Amino acid sequence: MMTIRPRRNRKNEAIRSLVRENLITPKDLIAPLFIVEGKNEIIPIASMPGQARLSSDLIVKKAKELWDLGVPCVSLFPAIAEAKKDKYATESCNDNGLLQNTVKALKDALPEMLVMTDVAMDPYSSDGHDGLVDDKSGEILNDQTLEILANMAVAQAKAGSDIVGPSDMMDGRVGYIRDALDDEGFTNTLIMSYTAKYASAFYGPFRNALDSAPKAGDKKTYQMDYANVREALLEASLDESEGADILMVKPGLSYLDVIKELRINSALPIAAYNVSGEYAMVKAAHEKGWLDGEKVMVEMLTSFKRAGADMILTYFAEEMARLYSK
Ligand code: PBG
Repeated sequence: MMTIRPRRNRKNEAIRSLVRENLITPKDLIAPLFIVEGKNEIIPIASMPGQARLSSDLIVKKAKELWDLGVPCVSLFPAIAEAKKDKYATESCNDNGLLQNTVKALKDALPEMLVMTDVAMDPYSSDGHDGLVDDKSGEILNDQTLEILANMAVAQAKAGSDIVGPSDMMDGRVGYIRDALDDEGFTNTLIMSYTAKYASAFYGPFRNALDSAPKAGDKKTYQMDYANVREALLEASLDESEGADILMVKPGLSYLDVIKELRINSALPIAAYNVSGEYAMVKAAHEKGWLDGEKVMVEMLTSFKRAGADMILTYFAEEMARLYSK
């Protein structure tokens, strides 16, 4: 009996490159960036080596570098001063606020580059939650939050945001935001819904970066239980029917099965969010000399594509794009 030899297709890089099923390119990547007030300001984020909070002028510079490397989109997260936070996240709708001004500066400088903005209360909320907190019960008030989110999305679209990303996990928010955008004439603003966003400990470094951790309680009454996958299908069908343009799974790495399920069950494009904790783990192990961070980065990013993601939000965007262009 002859031996079947799959190894023939692996015998050298030339044949491996022909049979390779998935390839990461800069065109697949969205770079999340953290904004801080000021000018020429760089505040490194200790738990995310290589990442920093940048003032708007430097965000524009960074975005230009990313665009020149082939990265088509940035996603912005503002670090709001504690004094500007309140219960209702009022600052999120300020047309001259940090985020909105940065979006305008980016669209002026780089009109073709896509700018994505996050829709959730936490960076602006004195409670550090994605929704409005009932002071007596501590409950996160779903329907009252929708109004705030819709105003926030419209303010972002008005500033020029191309894609709004509701990351709050309130019920009904995609439809509510779609209606508000359409009513205000923003029919071309995309919604990338954080469809399956899990209550995850992998967000730790991000919350350090924005000082946005919840003041009380956790996010388990709105973010999903990480033991569940069928629930992700329910969220996906709701987001589809409410008018989402792109579905996102977050975190990514421990949730490749969820990406795959959505890929199989939806015709919409799927995004994966390679979150802060996943980035920090690789960087920390690399710094210790315990693994090769660059190789792990490429392997990790490729695994998102293999699972079925069309695009990846990742703090590795610049490093990956630089490696690709070498
Ligand atoms: C907040 C938001 C979070 C992230 C993106 N948007 C944190 C959270 O839900 O607590 C996490 C991103 C990351 O960890 O890289 N709505």
